[in-house]
Amino acid sequence: MGIHQTITVNAQPSYDVIVGNDILDSISIKETVNQVALIFPAHVEKIAKTIKKQVTKLGFKVVEIIVPNAESGKNIKVVEKIWNKLGQNKFTRSDLIVAIGGGATTDLAGFVSATWLRGIDFISIPTTLLGMVDAAVGGKTGINTDAGKNLVGSFHNPVQVICDLNTLKSLKKHDFTTGMAEVIKCGFIQDEKILQIIEKYPSECKRYDGVEIPELVTRSIKIKAEVVAKDFKETSDSKTGREILNYGHTLGHAIEKIGKYKWRHGDAISVGMVYVAELAHAAGKLSAEVVQRHRDVLKQFGLPTSYKSKNFKKLIEIMALDKKSRGATLRFVILEDIAKPARLENPSFKILNQAWEKISK
Ligand SMILES: NC(=O)c1ccc[n+]([C@@H]2O[C@H](COP(=O)([O-])OP(=O)(O)OC[C@H]3O[C@@H](n4cnc5c(N)ncnc54)[C@H](O)[C@@H]3O)[C@@H](O)[C@H]2O)c1
Repeated sequence: MGIHQTITVNAQPSYDVIVGNDILDSISIKETVNQVALIFPAHVEKIAKTIKKQVTKLGFKVVEIIVPNAESGKNIKVVEKIWNKLGQNKFTRSDLIVAIGGGATTDLAGFVSATWLRGIDFISIPTTLLGMVDAAVGGKTGINTDAGKNLVGSFHNPVQVICDLNTLKSLKKHDFTTGMAEVIKCGFIQDEKILQIIEKYPSECKRYDGVEIPELVTRSIKIKAEVVAKDFKETSDSKTGREILNYGHTLGHAIEKIGKYKWRHGDAISVGMVYVAELAHAAGKLSAEVVQRHRDVLKQFGLPTSYKSKNFKKLIEIMALDKKSRGATLRFVILEDIAKPARLENPSFKILNQAWEKISK
């Protein structure tokens, strides 16, 4: 195994997230497992073949299940096909699923694992930056339905997560950049060191093999791990509950929805973070310097910081219905300073609009 770091997520039972280069051989499979289903899209077939080799070498039977790419695989029809394949191969509760791919695939395969025989073990091997720092850790699994995105799902933790940074080599530049938006979010809500690294080593942070990437990824995962350990099912009302991970997501989700999910998630939350920083400033809670720092750090990666639309009222309506809002209350996670999250409920239209004007010009 190459150089790596291990983060233990305090769940029940706890599981390890391993981050490093050339670490696909760190996959750990219980002896009681008989067969292993590898679920992946064709885009990451090469990575899947390496894992297949390793699992076979360890003496387990492998069943390959190739799924449609990205969001087109994240639906009930694909789930049903996988259930059928598991049935044909007589998968029992002591067998194992390994998810390989971006967040869409790990969400899909995680959901299959949560539902097959009411829950079997799965290992997550995220191959996008967003998958590593966000989707693969925290136990949220799910699919999209006609009712909306991610509305059907289950909390089901993986038994191991392997973030092999070398797998990012084939990732499109834009996919890497949009994943960086979640890393930056972690910097603002909890860990200023992330922002300092990005500001100090801008070009190193733009490459998958930049020397600072392992530290940025590890720091981001640690934040998610700590937050979800305290509030697994997002029920806590405290300022350190899972809700803080939603920083920038309220407007971000609305932009994704109104744009029929053509916007990449990281781009949408980039705008969302600038908006909510402006909102906190308009409410007298956040300094202009910190607002500017949002713009500077995000622009460093070419992430969007403005959004042109004549549809602000519609966006407000969507934001009020965001699943993370409570009832029809409009509620935002804001910052009072870096690493000092707070909540802003039902802000007046005046300040909502004041912040909107700052990002929509
Ligand atoms: N469960 C959670 O907590 C959570 C959190 C955040 C996001 N998500 C979900 O994650 C999804 C977004 O994840 P994403 O940004 O990883 O998108 P994605 O899964 O759609 O992957 C983006 C693209 O990159 C390709 N790809 C993946 N790895 C590659 C590699 N190494 N080389 C080349 N191409 C590769 C994919 O096939 C796809 O075309 C959404 O469905 C979102 O709902 C879930």
